[in-house]
Amino acid sequence: MADKSTPVTEKHFDYIAEHTTKEDEFLISLKEAASKEGIPSIWISPEQASFMQILLKLYHVRTVIEVGTLAGYSAIWMARALSKDSRLYTIEINPKFSGFAKEWISKSDVSDCIEVICDSGENAIKKFKNESADAIFLDADKPNYPKYLKEGMRILRKGGLIMADNAFAFGELFEENPEDKEVEAMRNFNEIIAKEKRLHSIIVPLGDGLWIGVKLF
Ligand code: DHB
Ligand code: MG
Repeated sequence: MADKSTPVTEKHFDYIAEHTTKEDEFLISLKEAASKEGIPSIWISPEQASFMQILLKLYHVRTVIEVGTLAGYSAIWMARALSKDSRLYTIEINPKFSGFAKEWISKSDVSDCIEVICDSGENAIKKFKNESADAIFLDADKPNYPKYLKEGMRILRKGGLIMADNAFAFGELFEENPEDKEVEAMRNFNEIIAKEKRLHSIIVPLGDGLWIGVKLF
């Protein structure tokens, strides 16, 4: 146990949720509609989204790349933290998910800022120029996270922000026999990003564990 930390329990998480800025009716409706269409309910938590918004606001972020759109929930949260002339590119390989996200983003208050790219993360991320993004959020297929990190480090400007979801491996980080086949991929990624010397990084225990890294050089 690290010095003087309070072990965070389920109760603390509920308390955090109760005391954090809430999602609005639009995002609640988006989640309901996505569930009805069979899109998996694996969006980030509102507390995590709020924290990410605060970072994006403090950074005055203008260009964000998200790998893994799913239903567009996190893209809308993030875009709401940006100024009107900013761009958020969000990449989704599944055409059903990207179609749903496009429809809901077009109805949202941030439709002008967001571009949905229907392609594999690997293909799409290669096309961004060196040092062209202020922030990157990884929330896609876990075995490819190391590749997205490598490309992300190329695309991020110095001082830029990289965020990656699921550091706690869907709650199974310490399970000996995890049910989810991507747990090992997250463990592997955690070791890789922790050793990345070009990043000042930390895991924030919100949602399913959020990696935050600042590109030092
Ligand atoms: C899964 C993926 C996620 O990105 C997440 O936040 C939760 C679960 C999954 O693939 O099961
Ligand atoms: Mg996730």
